[in-house]
Amino acid sequence: MLNVDISNIWGEYTLNDLLSLEKETFDAHKLLLDGKGPGSDYLGWMKLPVFEETEEMIRIRAAAKRIRESSDVFVVVGIGGSYLGPRAAIELVMGSNHNLRGKDPQIFFAGNNLSTRAWNELCALLEGKDFSVNIISKSGTTTEPAIATRALKWMLERKYGADEAKKRIFVTTDPEKGALRQMAAEEGYETFVIPPDVGGRYSVLTAVGLLPMAVAGMDITEVMFGAASARRDMEAFSFENPAWLYAAARNLLYRHGKKTELFCSYEPDFRFMGGWLQQLFGESEGKDGKGIYPFPLEFTADLHSMGQMIQQGERTIFETVLRFAPPRKKTMIESDWKNLDGLNYLEGKSLDFVEEQAFQGTLAAHTDGGVPVILVQNDEICDRTLGEMFYFFELSCGISAYMLGVNPFNQPGVEFYKRNMFQLLGKPGYTK
Ligand code: PA5
Repeated sequence: MLNVDISNIWGEYTLNDLLSLEKETFDAHKLLLDGKGPGSDYLGWMKLPVFEETEEMIRIRAAAKRIRESSDVFVVVGIGGSYLGPRAAIELVMGSNHNLRGKDPQIFFAGNNLSTRAWNELCALLEGKDFSVNIISKSGTTTEPAIATRALKWMLERKYGADEAKKRIFVTTDPEKGALRQMAAEEGYETFVIPPDVGGRYSVLTAVGLLPMAVAGMDITEVMFGAASARRDMEAFSFENPAWLYAAARNLLYRHGKKTELFCSYEPDFRFMGGWLQQLFGESEGKDGKGIYPFPLEFTADLHSMGQMIQQGERTIFETVLRFAPPRKKTMIESDWKNLDGLNYLEGKSLDFVEEQAFQGTLAAHTDGGVPVILVQNDEICDRTLGEMFYFFELSCGISAYMLGVNPFNQPGVEFYKRNMFQLLGKPGYTK
């Protein structure tokens, strides 16, 4: 079960300072639950985790079964909140090298950039392969996925003919609005829903995340079970609630000049989960001249690059370190009679023992160096712990953003680059 440990954050502030945030944390959580805060039209994510399998989940599992039977490759098209969640989930649970296993369909992601090289590479990878496509876009008008969709649709039609192509295109979008909904209706594609009251970065527990996860071979009922358990366990209006503790601790640190949060994990497969967290907190909190700057890091690799900065750079950072129970299958370090590498002192020790010492050593070094560390601990990585984590961070983010005094559910700043780009591209309706 997920728990938050704040015993390594103390500096010039004490437990009493954290406890003094109780009323604010209470108010922020209540605003969320009562739907009375800014952005309250987008609270649908709070109701998504349920213990019973929904109709939509049954349809998702059925579609995933068909896709797994008919496709070597599944191309997932989407960007931002329509991309990071599924990729984070699949890479964390199935491993970042899941495409090399040869057991499940390969999953490639497209429409999350405008790179010609990336597109050419995808085309080469699809050569001679049977594939299906999942187009994910709530608005249905986002440029990057729209360009990829047009091309992939054409590739499918050329390869399979119009009728078969239709059976290989799956659309995840708003139930009523948008160009994609209209396209799906006109062409007869199977569709899944992003509820209107669920914003992009809070949508991973809808078909946005669940269909790609199911195609990748994950058990989405377990993911939901984890999320529903977190929802049930994190209802408490007290610091017993890990989401309270985390939201309050990060606000306390922010108010004491800690303006950058490093999301650190010792699991390389956590990389895209770090990206998901970066979007969740970055887009939810970075507005009105406020916000903790989220930055994901991979330990121990990044200790050999960013370690210096963390240890002795500007003292404006804190860490949130994600810890998971090690896998049951141990890897042991063996003896070598020549001992040329001098590693025989580790003989008979397991790799996870060495990793634990690296973690403890780093924790002590960073806290000694003035970097507070919040620990978020959980059981072994699996579908259930993933679901638990998704809900925990979403809830914490909602509470934390309200404590910061911002609307956690909009992203007005994202439109600025788009307007300039559309002007430069000559999109109708965008004049200079
Ligand atoms: O969190 C968000 O709302 C954004 O990151 C969107 O998910 C992203 O811009 C993609 O939007 P859409 O799903 O409409 O294509």
